[in-house]
Amino acid sequence: MAEEGAVPGVENLKLQDGEQNPPEEETEDQLITPWEVTSGSQKGVNYDKLIAQFGSTKIEQDLIDRIVRVTGKPAHHLLTRGMIFSHRDVNLILDAYEKGKPFFLYTGRGPSSEAMHVGHLIPFMITKWLQDIFDVPLVIQLTDDEKFLWKDLTAEEARRLASENAKDIIALGFDVDKTFIFSDMDYIGSSPDFYRTMLKIQKCVTFNQVKGIFGFGDSTCIGKISFPSIQAAPSFSSSFPQIFGGRKDIQCLIPCAIDQDPYFRMTRDVAPRLGFPKPALLHTTFLPALQGAMTKMSASDAVSSLYLTDTNGQIKKKINKYAFSGGQATVEEHRRLGGNVDVDVSYMYLTFFMEDDDKLQQIREDYSSGKMLTGELKKELIGILQKVVSEHIERRKKVTDETVKEFMTPRKLKYNY
Ligand code: TRP
Repeated sequence: MAEEGAVPGVENLKLQDGEQNPPEEETEDQLITPWEVTSGSQKGVNYDKLIAQFGSTKIEQDLIDRIVRVTGKPAHHLLTRGMIFSHRDVNLILDAYEKGKPFFLYTGRGPSSEAMHVGHLIPFMITKWLQDIFDVPLVIQLTDDEKFLWKDLTAEEARRLASENAKDIIALGFDVDKTFIFSDMDYIGSSPDFYRTMLKIQKCVTFNQVKGIFGFGDSTCIGKISFPSIQAAPSFSSSFPQIFGGRKDIQCLIPCAIDQDPYFRMTRDVAPRLGFPKPALLHTTFLPALQGAMTKMSASDAVSSLYLTDTNGQIKKKINKYAFSGGQATVEEHRRLGGNVDVDVSYMYLTFFMEDDDKLQQIREDYSSGKMLTGELKKELIGILQKVVSEHIERRKKVTDETVKEFMTPRKLKYNY
């Protein structure tokens, strides 16, 4: 869930010292960094290509079967439908879990705007499911420091947004006894152990390395240059003595959108040198923008986004007006040729939010054959998203400042190891 849109300093990502412009045929290629997502295709990001490029492992059916077997719980539809598509070392987590060895979950959010959108829900829905099936502690990092450094935001405003976003996250139903949410600005200053873990990471990574991984350059501010150590630190249990009682060997599993992988490649690289276990990862795909899967939904682009604060009327209007359609120009043509689900954004959204597999399959067939029209497909989606958003609004209303404080207080969590 990296931030979106133009980011100061990010121009460095495109052309580094000594690097040349890419050859012509590659200019429309996909570009996935923590700051930018463009796919160059109406079908969206080519995730197989990304797996090859990043060197992660594709999730195959046998891994899904193993998760189901080990936990005794059904697989989430985002896993069976390929939205959790890649991983690193999840087998090791399952090996350990089977032997009764502990692990914890770590995820995060960069609080850059008051309004979160439905795409931001995806990694948190998955994290919630993982916490439920494995019954393990969870830490959630709110990188208000990152957004202060990268965006046109004051430190105070970034900190305020962290608490606002915490309410949305809490509204997903995380267990307060097992979940610690922290703002970097608050927690790092109060935790010598977190800071010491950060320092150890900083000592292992050179400027040359972060230049290579993140595209930083000579004119990048030094806050950004050291930030990767801050996102890496929660991967190690030594950062949370109040939770893990000073143990440094507890394995970590990080569910995140694939654009965050560069941070954790760096983390996995330094872990053995510090004597810590490498964090395991589960990668998720992006929710496409309303206008088409060439890019992901972005909070800074009102037209591409469905916000968690939108009214039923706004949801209906935006989907009807903007959702890129794979349908044909006229009803007659559509009946004859059918719609193209591979580029149809409303259909793509249904794969994220419609839980009923049989119903989704029926829609796929009917839309592809031309039996179902675009308007009918959109109507299905509008109903589902109106429900998702209005229920979220109701649950968020119940999250008080007191509840936020409870989640954000450093404390012992409940777990069985
Ligand atoms: N950098 C992420 C963002 O901009 C926030 C983040 C911090 C995060 N730690 C994480 C995301 C761990 C996933 C996993 O949104």
